[in-house]
Amino acid sequence: MRFAITGAAGMLGQDLLAAAKAAGHEVVGFSSADLDITDAEAVEQILGAARADVVVNCAAWTDVDGAERDEDGALAVNGAGAGNVARAAAAAGAWVIHISSDYVFDGSKRTPYLESDLTEPLSAYGRSKLAGDRAVANAAPGRHTIVRSSWLFGAGGSCFPATIMRLAGERDELNVVDDQVGCPTFTGHLARAVVELGGRPSRPVGIVHVAGGGSCSWYGFAREIVARAGLSCQVKPCTTAEMPRPARRPAYSVLRSERGDQVPSLSDWRQGLAEYFALIRVGSAR
Ligand SMILES: NC(=O)c1ccc[n+]([C@@H]2O[C@H](COP(=O)([O-])OP(=O)(O)OC[C@H]3O[C@@H](n4cnc5c(N)ncnc54)[C@H](OP(=O)(O)O)[C@@H]3O)[C@@H](O)[C@H]2O)c1
Repeated sequence: MRFAITGAAGMLGQDLLAAAKAAGHEVVGFSSADLDITDAEAVEQILGAARADVVVNCAAWTDVDGAERDEDGALAVNGAGAGNVARAAAAAGAWVIHISSDYVFDGSKRTPYLESDLTEPLSAYGRSKLAGDRAVANAAPGRHTIVRSSWLFGAGGSCFPATIMRLAGERDELNVVDDQVGCPTFTGHLARAVVELGGRPSRPVGIVHVAGGGSCSWYGFAREIVARAGLSCQVKPCTTAEMPRPARRPAYSVLRSERGDQVPSLSDWRQGLAEYFALIRVGSAR
């Protein structure tokens, strides 16, 4: 099968390229320099020529706080841009897999969010991702899978474990929020699951939730990172109110699927963290 990936130089995009190749598929990747998804004409032309069976859209505005200052900018990429990719994929006869986010939920539940749960984003980023979900469904009816995931970390980008290790190396003590709970998801695991979904003869239509197994707070995640890294920094819990940020985040955004064996389930986030550490150790030993 032939995959085309937009946003291919991003954290997830890089792992998707590798996962598609490792699974024996042909794959072509477009970075933001190769293809700006807000340019509908270019998207139609380039995806039309890509001869892909499956288009995976990893291109996104991912600066959550920055989106508060420029909601139109975030919407242009995450909303209209996602629609452009889906429309062009459908016109070319390809299936589109679009990557979405747990931040479409308001976090008021205390049991895992399922695909059919009501969306109520708290932030401009969340609203832009929800606009993308809707644009993709409208542009490629019956020919799309929207994969909602959460708290991504991977070797190919700046992510929470990398930030925590840097800060923990510089300080004796670190305060990390303990009142936001979610599912850290290793991009290596998510990429393999997306490739597996895309390679199926019959793919699930609509929204699927695919996130790391288990759940934790950012504080719990940080403690595990510092322990695994063998750093002596003390990690202390604090509240979101003590660490104000421009964008509101859901207090609880654990994702699970109600679609049974249609949806791949990922390993526990701690397993993802172990694989992440193995990867970055190999990288730093080179
Ligand atoms: N990171 C998370 O915690 C998280 C959680 C849930 C869901 N997601 C979703 O997962 C997907 C992948 O995220 P990621 O973490 O891999 O993000 P990332 O590393 O920021 O990758 C996004 C890529 O999109 C590119 N891009 C931005 N604007 C573009 C445009 N107009 N046209 C084409 N490409 C453009 C960026 O290129 P430049 O760098 O050149 O701008 C970047 O390479 C996104 O849909 C994101 O919303 C992420």
